[in-house]
Amino acid sequence: MLPHSHSHSHLSLEILFFSISSLLQSYLMATRFKLQFSISLAFTFFCFFFFTTFSFTENEELGNLLRFKASIDDPKGSLSGWSNTSSSHHCNWTGITCTRAPSLYVSSINLKSLNLSGDISDSICNLPYLTHLDLSQNLFNQPIPLHLSRCLTLETLNLSSNLIWGTIPDQISEFSSLKVLDFSSNHVEGKIPEDLGLLFNLQVLNLGSNLLTGTVPPAIGKLSELIVLDLSENSYLVSDIPSFIGKLDKLEQLLLHKSGFHGEIPTSFVGLTSLKTLDLCLNNLSGEITRSIGPSLKNLVSLDVSQNKLSGSFPSGICSGKRLINLSLHSNFFEGSLPNSIGECLSLERFQVQNNGFSGEFPVVLWKLPKIKIIRADNNRLTGQVPDSVSLATALEQVEIDNNSFSGDIPHGLGLIKSLYKFSASENGFAGELPPNFCDSPVLSIVNISHNRLLGKIPEVKNCKKLVSLSLAGNAFTGAIPPSLADLHVLTYLDLSDNSLTGLIPQDLQNLKLALFNVSFNQLSGEVPHSLVSGLPASFLQGNPGLCGPGLPNSCSSNLSSVHKTSGKALMLALICLALAIVTFLVVSYRYSRKKVQFKSSWNSEFYYPLRLTEHELMKVVNESCPSGSEVYVLSLSSGELIAVKKLVNPRNISSKALKAQVRTIAKIRHKNITQILGFCFTDELIFLIYEFTQNGSLHDMLSKSGDQLQWSIRLKIALGVAQALAYISKDYVPHLLHRNLKSTNILLDKDFEPKLTDFALDYIVGETSFQSLVHANSNSCYTAPENNYSKKATEEMDVYSFGVVLLELVTGQSAEKVEEGSSEESLDIVKQVRRKINLTTGASQVLDQKILSNSCQPDILKTLDIALDCTAVAAEKRPSLVQIIKLLEGISSSVSASAEKLPVSA
Ligand SMILES: *[C@@H]1O[C@H](CO)[C@@H](O)[C@H](O)[C@H]1NC(C)=O
Ligand SMILES: *[C@@H]1O[C@H](CO)[C@@H](O)[C@H](O)[C@H]1NC(C)=O
Ligand SMILES: *[C@@H]1O[C@H](CO)[C@@H](O)[C@H](O)[C@H]1NC(C)=O
Ligand SMILES: *[C@@H]1O[C@H](CO)[C@@H](O)[C@H](O)[C@H]1NC(C)=O
Ligand SMILES: *[C@@H]1O[C@H](CO)[C@@H](O)[C@H](O)[C@H]1NC(C)=O
Ligand SMILES: *[C@@H]1O[C@H](CO)[C@@H](O)[C@H](O)[C@H]1NC(C)=O
Ligand SMILES: *[C@@H]1O[C@H](CO)[C@@H](O)[C@H](O)[C@H]1NC(C)=O
Ligand SMILES: *[C@@H]1O[C@H](CO)[C@@H](O)[C@H](O)[C@H]1NC(C)=O
Repeated sequence: MLPHSHSHSHLSLEILFFSISSLLQSYLMATRFKLQFSISLAFTFFCFFFFTTFSFTENEELGNLLRFKASIDDPKGSLSGWSNTSSSHHCNWTGITCTRAPSLYVSSINLKSLNLSGDISDSICNLPYLTHLDLSQNLFNQPIPLHLSRCLTLETLNLSSNLIWGTIPDQISEFSSLKVLDFSSNHVEGKIPEDLGLLFNLQVLNLGSNLLTGTVPPAIGKLSELIVLDLSENSYLVSDIPSFIGKLDKLEQLLLHKSGFHGEIPTSFVGLTSLKTLDLCLNNLSGEITRSIGPSLKNLVSLDVSQNKLSGSFPSGICSGKRLINLSLHSNFFEGSLPNSIGECLSLERFQVQNNGFSGEFPVVLWKLPKIKIIRADNNRLTGQVPDSVSLATALEQVEIDNNSFSGDIPHGLGLIKSLYKFSASENGFAGELPPNFCDSPVLSIVNISHNRLLGKIPEVKNCKKLVSLSLAGNAFTGAIPPSLADLHVLTYLDLSDNSLTGLIPQDLQNLKLALFNVSFNQLSGEVPHSLVSGLPASFLQGNPGLCGPGLPNSCSSNLSSVHKTSGKALMLALICLALAIVTFLVVSYRYSRKKVQFKSSWNSEFYYPLRLTEHELMKVVNESCPSGSEVYVLSLSSGELIAVKKLVNPRNISSKALKAQVRTIAKIRHKNITQILGFCFTDELIFLIYEFTQNGSLHDMLSKSGDQLQWSIRLKIALGVAQALAYISKDYVPHLLHRNLKSTNILLDKDFEPKLTDFALDYIVGETSFQSLVHANSNSCYTAPENNYSKKATEEMDVYSFGVVLLELVTGQSAEKVEEGSSEESLDIVKQVRRKINLTTGASQVLDQKILSNSCQPDILKTLDIALDCTAVAAEKRPSLVQIIKLLEGISSSVSASAEKLPVSA
């Protein structure tokens, strides 16, 4: 190893003496032994210079290192061992490496990650064999230390991850010996200087994560020895990728990600034959890549062009070199199919093509690649199946193929993969039953197979003890919730909503630390475990008529066993649907008296609320006919409840799954001024929506009754409630919905005359075409905005118009549907009537409802009339928005409540 330091000077004197004596000896023997002489002379001189140099530079090197240390702030004392009193040789100091040939010289200083700051002294440039300086990951806060260009032997300069600031000056070219230059992760700004091109020896140039501006100068194209070029994460470097980069044929890593590169990937890239890593992600690149990166890049190991604006088809021949490990094309506009040649990618570990427009069959070979770890293809339009042979992909960790059109079943083979940690395949067409081993991977954490067509029982889960998130929502699972779920101690998200699960909610689920528990819209029954209602998790229980417990519509009654109750209810629900079927049958056969109507399909039903119906009640309903003029059947239940039933024609172009989802979306609306959907029944021909019904009938009924009058303050409350409800469904609720059929018959009043909107957003359920025919068949056009006839798109303004008509009914006390008897003119709708009257008479008060008029409220009614007239403006853009209407009505309302005490109740 190293010589002992205290003997150095003594040793070198001895050797010096030996050298001189041998020199004399040689001289004396010169004439006789010429050959010998010359050899020994050469040897002697060599020894002489070698050891003298050694003895002199020894202390010099040490001194230079100490001078270097002196200008550095070293808060952690990492360099405390650098001292001339130290017992260890300076070649043994922290961060120092010495060469052994020609002798011990400092060749490398590596002081990374020591929290150093201060000045970088050029005293180290006096170290004659220093080739390597690494000061990365420190806190040096200064411009680029140009004086280090005095270090004539320096090959590597690593100042990465400091606080270096300022521009790269032209004098950078003076670092003529540099092979590796790393200024990454600093605050270097300004343009990349042309003179960088003079560093002909450069093999690694890393300027990543800085604040560089401008474009890439052509000089970079002269750096023909470059192996690594990193200009990534310079978001102000807004440039196209210059084609001269394609000439750098020794380049192995080209990292240009997360900068401002735009335009196309140059075709010259075919020249990058040594390239292993190409990272262009997160730029603004466009065009196709097929021509530029193809079979020529035989050494490619990693290709990442994700998150650009690239288009065209999948790059062909990408695996011709068989070395590709990472392929990421995600979040671009690629389309077309994925080629089967992907099977050549035997080294492939990560395959990410999500968020593109790929279509066609997903190559089955991909599922068998021996090294594949990540398959992401979500949000494309791919078809195909996951084959049972996926079990050959023994390294598979993560599968995300959500939102495609995959079909077939979830194969048994998937459960055999022991490394699988995420399987997300929601929004596809997977069907059939889940294999019992679907959750067998011991590292499985996330399963999302929601919104498929899976059915049968949910298998017991045993082995996936790491499962955190399980979503089986939106399938057709039946049977009970497997109690073994309660053994998965880290389970946090459990979504079983929108299935047909029955039975009790397992008590033991309470023991889990769930953050989300969603079992809504199933057919579960019985008492909900206490802590799932009152505890921390966000619980979603609605749409299970049989569930009972605190906070639910049903409180648990102890005398009936819950199982009995449910089956009884199920029977009742079946009966009501049957009854409705009969009603429908009667009505329909009456309508088309000659035509025999038969339902070819069976009844489906879904209830979100426990309806108690007896056979007797149902018989009554069958005998009752639909009240004339009304669009709903009203059923009176023995419990005193009224339900309203709305009949719709099933447009048949929507699947029952979609239909259910649509109705559920609407049934989930919760607003005081909106009637709730309690459930629905449907066949292929018809749909029956069941609404809650309210005690005081509709606004239309109240206004046309000659006896009791709604006083003004109530009318105003109704107007405000309706406006709030409309604003809620169109602004706050997601999806945004329009009413599209607002009229006084669709505004129901409860016992306190609070309004409740009904019959809304039917277009969302049956689709535009069916909705149009429905409305045209039933509508009284005076509620319909004039632009409805020519406008293709329904708008909020149209709802505002209908609302204005309702307001006119409220202020005039007149039904919009009745045309004034005495009028000899062509029948005028209420809007035209009111406008005409206002024009003819001097005062607008003429049109107001005389029955409720009093001096105190007249100004408010007139203000409301103004709003109504604005709402019914012929030009849609003149109408106020719902938000404006609410503000105006609230203004009026506050003045009413202020004077409410004084207001006499009108008879
Ligand atoms: C250098 O350090 C090593 C251990 O780190 C030690 O064994 C060796 O003796 C040291 N050499 C000198 C010359 O101090
Ligand atoms: C470096 O210094 C910072 C404060 O300047 C401190 O937060 C950090 O922990 C230090 N790092 C080390 C490795 O000592
Ligand atoms: C420079 O140092 C950083 C941090 O220590 C390191 O990650 C990087 O690889 C080094 N650069 C080169 C070219 O070796
Ligand atoms: C991307 O490029 C387009 C033009 O090709 C330009 O309009 C757009 O602003 C760019 N976006 C970014 C984020 O640079
Ligand atoms: C589903 O994928 C399509 C592309 O095929 C995309 O347009 C759509 O936004 C995706 N849906 C969701 C919910 O991400
Ligand atoms: C499961 O997938 C659905 C549909 O793609 C998505 O809405 C939901 O957020 C996912 N659930 C989890 C827990 O990731
Ligand atoms: C309508 O609903 C709101 C709650 O959003 C409620 O405060 C109000 O009393 C209801 N009725 C009216 C007339 O606003
Ligand atoms: C009412 O009178 C105004 C002018 O005063 C006129 O512009 C408007 O068309 C009239 N409206 C009707 C419905 O006749």
